[in-house]
Amino acid sequence: MEYMRACTLDTLEEAKPITVELDGCRIALVRMGEAVHAVSARCSHAGGPLGKGWIEEGELVCPLHRWRFRLNDGRCTTVRGEWVSAFRCEIRGNEVWVEV
Ligand code: FES
Repeated sequence: MEYMRACTLDTLEEAKPITVELDGCRIALVRMGEAVHAVSARCSHAGGPLGKGWIEEGELVCPLHRWRFRLNDGRCTTVRGEWVSAFRCEIRGNEVWVEV
């Protein structure tokens, strides 16, 4: 595991997910206030693009069938026992780094 530069902080709008690819892994990034969260961009249900989802009540919603995932640990709150990987993020100046 190592930190990789994902994007600049100012490319992230509040609560608007984007998708980045790091080390062959597609990751959904979401800025919430002063924090940035990173989870796998591939939904655990049927592979939906979580980076094209949206935020409801602080959770990331999959655009295909609307399962919801917690941003801090990737746990699914729609179906018990489902989850996506969550990654540590660091903000370094104007850059977002993700541990992959
Ligand atoms: S693919 Fe994400 S909820 Fe079905």
